[in-house]
Amino acid sequence: MNLITAKKLKKEYSQYRWQTNSNEIFTEEMTLFTLTGKDVTYSLAALESGHLAHVYYGKRADDEDLSYLMRLNENPYTPKVNKRDMGTFMDSAPFEYPCHGIGDYREPTIMLMDSEGMSALDLRFVSYEITDGKPILEQALEDCTVRIPATFAEKDEAQTLAITLKDNRTGLTAVLYYTVFAELDAITRSVRLINNGTKAFDVRRVMSACVDFDSCDYDFITLNGSWARERIIERSPLHHGKQSVDSVKGESSHQNNPFTALVSHNANEDIGEAFGFGLVYSGNFFAQAEVTQHKKTRFVMGINHFDFSWTLEPQKSFTAPEVVMVYSSEGIGKMSRTYHDLYRRHLIRGEYKDKRRPILINNWEATYFNFNTEKLIDIAKQASALGIEMLVMDDGWFGHRDSDNSSLGDWFVCEKKINGGLKYLVDEVNKLGMKFGIWFEPEMISPDSELYKAHPDWAIQINGMPLTQSREQYVLDYSRKEVRDYIYGLMCKILDSANIEYIKWDMNRQLTEVGSNALPAGRQRELWHRYVLGVYDVMDRLTSDYPHILLENCSGGGARFDAGMLFYSPQIWTSDDTDAIERLKIQHGTSICYPPSAMGAHVSDCPNHTVGRTTPFSTRGNVAMVGTFGYELDVTRISEQDRNEIPGQIEQFKKYNPLIRTGDQYRIGNVFEDNTWDAWIFVAKDKSEAVFTFVQVLGRPNYGSRRIKLKGLDPNGKYLSSETGEIHTGAALMNCGINITVHGDFSSKVIYFNRAD
Ligand code: DGJ
Repeated sequence: MNLITAKKLKKEYSQYRWQTNSNEIFTEEMTLFTLTGKDVTYSLAALESGHLAHVYYGKRADDEDLSYLMRLNENPYTPKVNKRDMGTFMDSAPFEYPCHGIGDYREPTIMLMDSEGMSALDLRFVSYEITDGKPILEQALEDCTVRIPATFAEKDEAQTLAITLKDNRTGLTAVLYYTVFAELDAITRSVRLINNGTKAFDVRRVMSACVDFDSCDYDFITLNGSWARERIIERSPLHHGKQSVDSVKGESSHQNNPFTALVSHNANEDIGEAFGFGLVYSGNFFAQAEVTQHKKTRFVMGINHFDFSWTLEPQKSFTAPEVVMVYSSEGIGKMSRTYHDLYRRHLIRGEYKDKRRPILINNWEATYFNFNTEKLIDIAKQASALGIEMLVMDDGWFGHRDSDNSSLGDWFVCEKKINGGLKYLVDEVNKLGMKFGIWFEPEMISPDSELYKAHPDWAIQINGMPLTQSREQYVLDYSRKEVRDYIYGLMCKILDSANIEYIKWDMNRQLTEVGSNALPAGRQRELWHRYVLGVYDVMDRLTSDYPHILLENCSGGGARFDAGMLFYSPQIWTSDDTDAIERLKIQHGTSICYPPSAMGAHVSDCPNHTVGRTTPFSTRGNVAMVGTFGYELDVTRISEQDRNEIPGQIEQFKKYNPLIRTGDQYRIGNVFEDNTWDAWIFVAKDKSEAVFTFVQVLGRPNYGSRRIKLKGLDPNGKYLSSETGEIHTGAALMNCGINITVHGDFSSKVIYFNRAD
């Protein structure tokens, strides 16, 4: 495998070789690195000066020497690597990991506060190494080492380039990792900082990736929203100055997702260039595109530097999370499909990675806090008879929790509600042939709890400041191992007490008064990141100790739908908005970079609890079928007619889920542009079958049927339609389309196509 090459080059422009103040020449030659994925090339160079320059990122070039693109001796405002024009060079050359304080006034990737109060850095090339596969990422802490979530690859699936840079004054070493995947147009990047100096310094900013694009002719795509409106797509042309999205809430957030893309102005689902950037991280993040004076774009992404600081003692290291860069020359759709493949194969782990997930029924919207053993068994009885495979007991089973105002942290079964005990309940559910799942919110503490009485100092807090409540709860200080150990110990007791096969891990508030009673003053600003590392630590222990348990992440709906969480949980609750029509946007937006098969999606009751809308039961099923599929209603109380539809929906889901989980998704409709209909199709990798879904948002009088063009089929293949029984070529279905007739607002249909040649 030869996905990465390193070439020594001696170019005629070496006359412009820049010398340091001590007249020391770094190297005689420059080293050009070329990374080649399936249809993508990424090229960078360590110049003779030691600066690490960006050369090219885009469609595969099949040329190992793109150094002619570097313009090292053009005039007047383009870079020259010489002493006289160093400022010009620094402020305009494309860099891989630009420093602050030495003449590059664009967004830096790294800043320190050193022992002398200085923040400038001058990182220069030292060495490189190319290895097969992909190293794991870790962060050593005082009392444990935390594995940092990241994509993984076998030795024959990817290659990694590690480039070491060093700042001589402070002794800071930065190792930049680039992994390129053989079968995908994906390159991942991360950074490890090591203090090889003699004095401690504070890292004030450490981005995981920077790409200096040669133009600003792009649109910036972000996924924004709010509770019940997560990952709504926004797209706007880049303009001079900086446009950014971030989170300062301690989690990836409802408001902005740690994913952005730069796409060519003409890009749509099927054509144009798309450069996606996703951060494998679940805390405060930062992503920014900056249009420079020369109409170029600097894109950076990483942990948010806002309120961040990390003290690095001599010989200690800091690992910044991974950025996943995906390139597509065939539109946004292809970019999404690459993310889906990458995350399904190289990020999601565990026993359920490649398995259909159990069809569950969750009691949240069915009962909220008002349930007991009998009620749950009633639901389970009806559900099992209809073919539902797992009962999930949501919030309210512990402490004295009858509302959201108490007991978080007291992970003891509330015998008043779970009369007979948890084991009895689980056994009864198991006897019905169903699995049992349970809800936890392990990061939280209620002021009204035994835990808070015993350990008020365990909440994240700043002494002397009133502590902000949100949903009447505080956040536990997960930077403290004793806190994590205690909570995890309680969880284990519950998990060991009965046959529990699924956990919903919820997180229902963001961080405020960010201070820890366990950290020294100089390290308090580390808490944002230490908190996230603490969460990762517990999730790692949980998934290792209980590999058979299916973990579903959740955060007040979909506030933590991020790639970091996918490393632990193969599915994430997409949104508390379960309305089928609202879900069209939410699921479309989420599918931009996350696999639909990881989206928690349920059929709920109507009028919908969030928007009050009534939609057909069949449409609720057809929309939820894209995701993990389940029910979130009181099956004992819905209409006979709806209940009778459940077995058919389950059969449909079981039939199509393998295709949805492994196939390619093509979005056909775009509810962000035309909110009157939506459609998508999942096509098998070998093009042997496809399942198409159409949803009409609003009925339209007297227009007749809609003609919808399918996508992704083999144009030369012949396909049998489950709707008409007719056989047509893929070319006809894609170029000419099919006529879709549906009647009524919110109606929908699913059509299966299988190969008939
Ligand atoms: C928020 C989640 O998104 C809901 O599904 C539910 O689990 C509640 N929390 C419970 O408090």
